[in-house]
Amino acid sequence: MLGNHAHKHMDGAALAKRLLENAARKVEQIKHASNVTPALATVLVGDDPASIVYTRMKRKRCTDAGMRPVRIELPRDTSTEHLVSEIRKLGADPAIHGILLQHPVPSPIDKRAAFEAIPPEKDVDGVTSATLGRVVLGMDAFTPCTPAGIMRLLEEYKIPIDGVHAVVIGRSPILGRPMASLLINAHATVTLCHSRTRDLPAIVRQADILIAAVGKPRFVQADWVSEGVVVIDAGYNEGNIGDVDFDAVIERASHITPVPGGVGPMTIATLINQTATAAAQQLNVVL
Ligand SMILES: NC(=O)c1ccc[n+]([C@@H]2O[C@H](COP(=O)([O-])OP(=O)(O)OC[C@H]3O[C@@H](n4cnc5c(N)ncnc54)[C@H](OP(=O)(O)O)[C@@H]3O)[C@@H](O)[C@H]2O)c1
Repeated sequence: MLGNHAHKHMDGAALAKRLLENAARKVEQIKHASNVTPALATVLVGDDPASIVYTRMKRKRCTDAGMRPVRIELPRDTSTEHLVSEIRKLGADPAIHGILLQHPVPSPIDKRAAFEAIPPEKDVDGVTSATLGRVVLGMDAFTPCTPAGIMRLLEEYKIPIDGVHAVVIGRSPILGRPMASLLINAHATVTLCHSRTRDLPAIVRQADILIAAVGKPRFVQADWVSEGVVVIDAGYNEGNIGDVDFDAVIERASHITPVPGGVGPMTIATLINQTATAAAQQLNVVL
C-alpha cells in the first residue's frame, strides 16, 4: 500500500525559488554599481521542441531575475564553422556576460568545437573542457548546472556525503562525469556506471546515494535499491517522467527528488546565479 511519503520529497522547486530571489538581489547590486544589465545569450540550433521549451524557460527566469536574455536562433543546417564564429562574436561582446549553447546540437555539428568556443569566463553552463578540468581538480569554476544544483540540494537536506558510497548512472560530460567529480571532492566513494556496466542492479543496491542520469523513463527499479537510500533523479523524459520508478522506489528511499520539481528547477537556478556571478566578475563588482 502506498503511504503518504511527502516528507521524503526533496523540494527542488522551493529551494530554486529562494536561489532565484537571491540572484535577483545580486543583479540589483550589479546594476546599481555598474549601470550595466547582466546579459545571458541563449544559442539554439535547429528546432528540437524540448530545446525550444528549455531555452524559453531559461530566458524567462533570466528576465525574472532582472537580467537581459539575448536570443540567438540558428537553422538546423548551420555549419560548425558558422556556429563557432557566432559563439566567438558573443564571447568578444562586452555586453554579453554568459553564453549558453543549448544541447543537443544537431549531429553533423562538431559540438565539442562549438562548446570550446565559449570563453571560460562566460561559460556559465559549465560545458568547456577548461571548466570540467577545474571541476575535477576541485578549483573554483562555473560548475555544470545540473550536478551543481544536485550538490546544493544534498547540502540543503543535510545528506551526509563524506565516506558514503555514491552510485552515479551516466557518464555524460555535462552530468554524470562532473557529478562523480563533485561527489569525490566531497569525499564520497563513487562508482560511475554506464551502458557497459555489468550487473547494474547489484551495484545500485550498494548505494547510500544514487544519482540517476540515464535518459530512460522509470529505468531504476525498486528492487535495485536498498532501504534508506537517497535517490536523486536527474532524468527528464517526455511527459515529465524521470529515470526512476518513483512510486515504487519512494517506498524504500529516505529521500527522493520528484520529477518535475526536483533537479530541473535547481539546474536553472544555478544557471541564473552563475550568470549573475559572471557578470559581477566581468564588471568588477564585488558582491
Ligand atoms: N533536469 C535537468 O535540468 C537536466 C539537465 C540535463 C539532462 N537531464 C536529463 O538527464 C538525463 C541524462 O542526460 P545526459 O545529457 O547526461 O544524457 P546522455 O548524454 O544521453 O548520457 C546518458 C548516460 O546514460 C548511460 N546509459 C544509457 N543507457 C544505459 C543503461 N542501460 N545502463 C546504464 N547506463 C546507461 C549512457 O552510457 P554510455 O556513456 O555508455 O552511452 C550515458 O553515459 C536525461 O533524462 C536528460 O533529459 C536533465
